[in-house]
Amino acid sequence: MQSNTHELAQVAATAQAVEAGTGRVNLYAGIHKALRAFMADTLLAVGRTDPADAQEVAATRERLGTLLDLCAAHVRHEDGFVHPAIEARSPGVVEGVADEHAGHLAQIARLRAMADGLDGLAPAACALALQNMYLALALFVAENLQHMHTEETVHNTALWQAFSDAELVGIHDGLLATVPPAEMMLVMRWMLPQMNAPERLELLGGMRQGAPAPVFQVVLDGARAQLAERDWAKLARGLGLAPVDGLVMA
Ligand SMILES: [Fe+2]
Repeated sequence: MQSNTHELAQVAATAQAVEAGTGRVNLYAGIHKALRAFMADTLLAVGRTDPADAQEVAATRERLGTLLDLCAAHVRHEDGFVHPAIEARSPGVVEGVADEHAGHLAQIARLRAMADGLDGLAPAACALALQNMYLALALFVAENLQHMHTEETVHNTALWQAFSDAELVGIHDGLLATVPPAEMMLVMRWMLPQMNAPERLELLGGMRQGAPAPVFQVVLDGARAQLAERDWAKLARGLGLAPVDGLVMA
């Protein structure tokens, strides 16, 4: 009964936060869609890795390493830019979540050690190691899903109350200026297909204004290769590119 009350309160609080963010700049929405997708995809890849196939095990290990690098970088970006901003104007709001960030870095280190431990294992031992890693990664993903929920409701509400959209864009620009190109491309690879069409158009429309033309072209080519035909058609139409033949939009 108590947990039911708690769940209903959480649903209501979430709806309130979503409502408060209508039409506002959302610092978390895009990158968190990318992280949720990359985490889920990697978890599933670990689960289906054949322990007797050394090539597959190596590929899974590399994929997990890339995910963990991105998760660690994400924690650094939030700690470096978003949390100080929230703390400056809404003291105390980020305290619990800052501790969770420290916990995530410890979990990332443990998962890295587990991935390194796969090296050279015989199939039977590898099967056990993979299963352990799969379960540990599942918990890491579960914690991150909870954590991102808090950020997108509690943190966002604090940001929307204390900052104008222009200030939020300023925080985001400062953060983006520290992101290396390879990390940016990785994020695009996971973010673009998982955004909805209006979000995708807004992101790429802004990038066309701000980024050098060759960089924009690479991102656009990547989007074309990844997106479903319908999504690509919407994007191309929105950007004023050549129409996609044979696709009728409702
Ligand atoms: Fe975070």
